Amino acid sequence: MSRLDSHIQQKIAQRDSINLAARWLAGKDGVIVEFGLSTGRSYSHLLERFPGREIFCFDRLDKTHPRSRPPAGHLFLGEFTDLLADAALQARFAGRVILAHIDIGSGGPEDEVIPELVMDRIAHWLKPGALVLSDQDLTLQPAWQMERVVTAGEVEHAGRYNVYRRRTP
Ligand SMILES: C[S@@+](CC[C@H](N)C(=O)[O-])C[C@H]1O[C@@H](n2cnc3c(N)ncnc32)[C@H](O)[C@@H]1O
Repeated sequence: MSRLDSHIQQKIAQRDSINLAARWLAGKDGVIVEFGLSTGRSYSHLLERFPGREIFCFDRLDKTHPRSRPPAGHLFLGEFTDLLADAALQARFAGRVILAHIDIGSGGPEDEVIPELVMDRIAHWLKPGALVLSDQDLTLQPAWQMERVVTAGEVEHAGRYNVYRRRTP
């Protein structure tokens, strides 16, 4: 398969996973966080599918397209390792998140480390039943209380995007 076809498949799976999350999380309280805003393509889709929901974004650089720019106070700029070490930020989001979108793959060696580091730092942000969508396959740690969600039949190219759920007590 060409890299172009592979990329297209992953984007279809990403879009379908966001759509699925919007259906499953309808009527459930909580904010959304997105790690990896870049120019804001997936952010624009989250905005469409979760109207009225607060979405907070994280990236090292502000590369946003003018049509996909988070409002004031909703964009955190810096390295994830630095941002997620901030005690005030940790306290602010603890127990408030219903959906986390982690779209931070670069194709480099950091893909082996950073997605799980982010997940480790935000696991306690998730409400019971919250979903995590990730471009990288995460090795789940018991402390995170997460399980993989099988989306075959709901998401086209389901194996190309990873969906996890925070267990309910
Ligand atoms: C694949 S792009 C995100 C694409 C975006 N979701 C979209 O649909 O337009 C990954 C983004 O993650 C950011 N990123 C990756 N690792 C990071 C890190 N350790 N700290 C901060 N930002 C990081 C990059 O700057 C990049 O903008």
